Amino acid sequence: MVEAPAVTLIGAGQMGGALVRGWLAAVRCGGGLTLTVHDPAVDAGILTDMEKAGVVVNPPDAGPADVLVLAVKPQTFAAAAASARAACGPQTLVISVMAGVTLAALSRALDTDRVIRAMPNTPGQIGQGVTAYVSSAACKPADLALAEQLLAPLGAVEPIPTERLMDVVTAVSGSGPAYVFLLAEVLAAAAEKEGLDPDIAARLARRTVAGAGALMLQSSEPASQLRKAVTSPGGTTQAALDILMSADGLAMLMRKAVAAATQRSRELGRGVD
Ligand SMILES: NC(=O)c1ccc[n+]([C@@H]2O[C@H](COP(=O)([O-])OP(=O)(O)OC[C@H]3O[C@@H](n4cnc5c(N)ncnc54)[C@H](OP(=O)(O)O)[C@@H]3O)[C@@H](O)[C@H]2O)c1
Repeated sequence: MVEAPAVTLIGAGQMGGALVRGWLAAVRCGGGLTLTVHDPAVDAGILTDMEKAGVVVNPPDAGPADVLVLAVKPQTFAAAAASARAACGPQTLVISVMAGVTLAALSRALDTDRVIRAMPNTPGQIGQGVTAYVSSAACKPADLALAEQLLAPLGAVEPIPTERLMDVVTAVSGSGPAYVFLLAEVLAAAAEKEGLDPDIAARLARRTVAGAGALMLQSSEPASQLRKAVTSPGGTTQAALDILMSADGLAMLMRKAVAAATQRSRELGRGVD
């Protein structure tokens, strides 16, 4: 940690819980942090760890924190706003992982101007995600450094220059894990059609997608290079790629899918705001 901030987390579910686990691990390694958590139904497993680490859970009247992290569902934000406002003073940096809740809406609801809006993704639950974030103009470099450290338990962290692009981020890394799961599904279904037993097909597809992802993460080569490395001219992979890379193939489908998700994110954003 940059310093020893007092952090208040509101919502310790999938995302908030992953953050807490990472912060507790950092504390065990000597990182300074005092933590207060608000969540009416904290998971019993993590509650024990929090109590051992001296985390304050659901205090009736906690004061302002150095950092307020919001990890409730967007539709719960209004209900959580009272505890959020109590934890938010003039010096508080606000970090939200709530999908679609804009910097302006956060600023308005909490009456503060140092706000950071982050978009994590589901692999963040095991520390293998990527979180993109955008910050308000009032945030200082030290705020961004602290936010990056606090978001690190979810995986890689990427700053985004303008909030307008958060809809694209949502369509790419936010929704993206579903596209990869679908790839495993349709690969297994195709294997079945070619005669493989359904269970074997599912296992082969699952391991192939997961293994290729792990290899890509370890390699410094771009994805296109890794693809070329397994494609011999005139071979089996080439035969498949001729279909997948045709004019109306995967690139066109993905282009349309990401455009649709971006558009939907814009529409939902207008609703949430
Ligand atoms: N999961 C993801 O992959 C993902 C990806 C991108 C963005 N996000 C964003 O991350 C946020 C959290 O998502 P999640 O999947 O972690 O949701 P989640 O598992 O439902 O966690 C939210 C937690 O907040 C608790 N809560 C409800 N009302 C509260 C209140 N008034 N005060 C304090 N805590 C309250 C919930 O308790 P109950 O269960 O008892 O209601 C739950 O434990 C969402 O805004 C979502 O948009 C998540």
